[in-house]
Amino acid sequence: MCGIVGYVGHRPAYPYLIEGLKKLEYRGYDSAGIALHFGNALKVVKKAGKVAALEELTAVIEQGSPIGIGHTRWATHGIPSDNNAHPHTSQSGKLVLVHNGIIENYAALKEELLKKGYTFHSDTDSEVLLNFIEDIQQNNNCALEEAIRIALKRVSGAYVILLLSEEYPQTIFAARKGSPLVIGIGQGEHFLGSDASPMLGYTKEVVYINDYELAIIKPDELILKNLGNERLTPFVQQLDMELASIEKGGYEHFMLKEIYDQPAAIYDSLRGRLDAQQGQITLSGVDSIKDKLMAARRIIIVACGTSWHAGLLGEYLIEELCRVNVEVEYASEFRYRNPVIDEHDVIIALSQSGETADTLVALENAKTQGATIFGIVNVVGSSIARLSDAGAYTHAGPEIGVASTKAFTAQLTVLQLFALKLAQMKGTLDKTVAQELMQELALVPEKVQHILDTQLENIKKIASTYKDARDFLYLGRGYNFPIALEGALKLKEVSYIHAEGYPAAEMKHGPIALVDEHLPVVFVATKDRVHEKIISNMQEIKSRRGKLIAVVSEDDQTASSLSDDCIFIPQAHEIVAPLLSVIPLQLLSYYIGVERGSDVDKPRNLAKSVTVE
Ligand code: M6R
Repeated sequence: MCGIVGYVGHRPAYPYLIEGLKKLEYRGYDSAGIALHFGNALKVVKKAGKVAALEELTAVIEQGSPIGIGHTRWATHGIPSDNNAHPHTSQSGKLVLVHNGIIENYAALKEELLKKGYTFHSDTDSEVLLNFIEDIQQNNNCALEEAIRIALKRVSGAYVILLLSEEYPQTIFAARKGSPLVIGIGQGEHFLGSDASPMLGYTKEVVYINDYELAIIKPDELILKNLGNERLTPFVQQLDMELASIEKGGYEHFMLKEIYDQPAAIYDSLRGRLDAQQGQITLSGVDSIKDKLMAARRIIIVACGTSWHAGLLGEYLIEELCRVNVEVEYASEFRYRNPVIDEHDVIIALSQSGETADTLVALENAKTQGATIFGIVNVVGSSIARLSDAGAYTHAGPEIGVASTKAFTAQLTVLQLFALKLAQMKGTLDKTVAQELMQELALVPEKVQHILDTQLENIKKIASTYKDARDFLYLGRGYNFPIALEGALKLKEVSYIHAEGYPAAEMKHGPIALVDEHLPVVFVATKDRVHEKIISNMQEIKSRRGKLIAVVSEDDQTASSLSDDCIFIPQAHEIVAPLLSVIPLQLLSYYIGVERGSDVDKPRNLAKSVTVE
């Protein structure tokens, strides 16, 4: 969590810092701050609240400095407040630091520093780290670079830090472990960011910093070292991202834009990979670990949140089409519960950001035990992408709204391709059925567009009817069960209404006690092999006077006549139908959130990239 920016070069740093922080606000938005170096003095401005509040405050300050750092925070240690906001200033006032991550042994370090007479102005682990660095520098009478190295060898946890020192008016010191850092290379200038979005429009050349690396960044020079003080050669890559892709493009919110991006995003995930005419799938990542996949006794899918819901659907798909055992794991549980893993396991990692700390560490552990990692990741060059032995990017484009939408459908698309490809390799799927499924998949982008074109007003009306409900229940069976979970999560995130997703038949084992005339129950009830069963579940809710909102296939008279409100989607094979049935649920959450006045792009307490455990 937390977004970090930095600039050193020949132009005023401030515009890059403030605009960069706005682009990184999805990573956290409870306080923000900047520090500028004015040759002999460091100026820090910080404030609780969003970047807009900081911008008001900084409008009147001297902004001419060509070097500075900035931070937008997602609180871990200490409430969102001016004091806990970054940058932090060291005891002597000569160093300032921004930090993303968690210093796990901060309490012990703080104890040491308190005994030495240090005082603290915040509750953060970050201020402890800063003073720890300063203390080392003073005691050892060494260069700052050396002090940082010594300090980082003693801390445990995750960090990206950027440091400015009064002593070095032209240098930013940066280091990383477990949290992301990108350095953009310009002509006589360098741009820093937690991701590359702030530097779009400035440069296309970037270096992704690796764990345990320290960068010393001046206008004309980027020195990269490991913590053993050995020089490393920065690996410069070309940035493959356009400015337009991170702008709202006329939509009121990123979330709405990203819902509308889905026909194109799904198409992009399929492009060059699916040849429905020839019945062929091209996924070079799958080819590259073919032997491992063919020999795998099981596949384990590891993810968090929405990506975990995609993973659950992946389990249904892969088991059905490829006849191989699949397990789906919450990364946060998997990493700590000492699972049995060996070199016969293939792990599929699902992550939009590619930086989710729980997923990343779970994968590192599994890799150490010999498992092969296949990453399905959206952010190119992210930590999970780089850790994976093979993979397939989702190609959804940047997702800025904190509530995941297009990344989810792109993940489902890649999982479909993966399952079909593996089934072909294993010979577990009839050729004609495989081709039929491929043709169905090829039609998804236009069917999604059809839903967006025909159901919008209907969904807005439904949102307005139910916006004041206290709770919602989402029910689905089979392939639509993960969609029910995802629908409930989306509603919680952007409207703050309590919502639960459940397997429709399991509902009678408990949640049915909640049903009365005040409870909206959303059924994901498209035509599939369990359709008659879900109709019975709808009857059970109706006879208890629950309000029925149903997502149904266009020609489904039975389900629609049972429902109080209905959203129609095109008929599709049950395996690809989830790619369609989730769309109305995203829109419903969005419009309920908007009606209730939530900040749908940046819901309270959340962050887009969860880089703490
Ligand atoms: O970047 P990841 O896909 O690894 O993120 C996982 C979850 O944090 C994420 O899906 C979260 O649940 C979203 N806010 C869902 O909308």
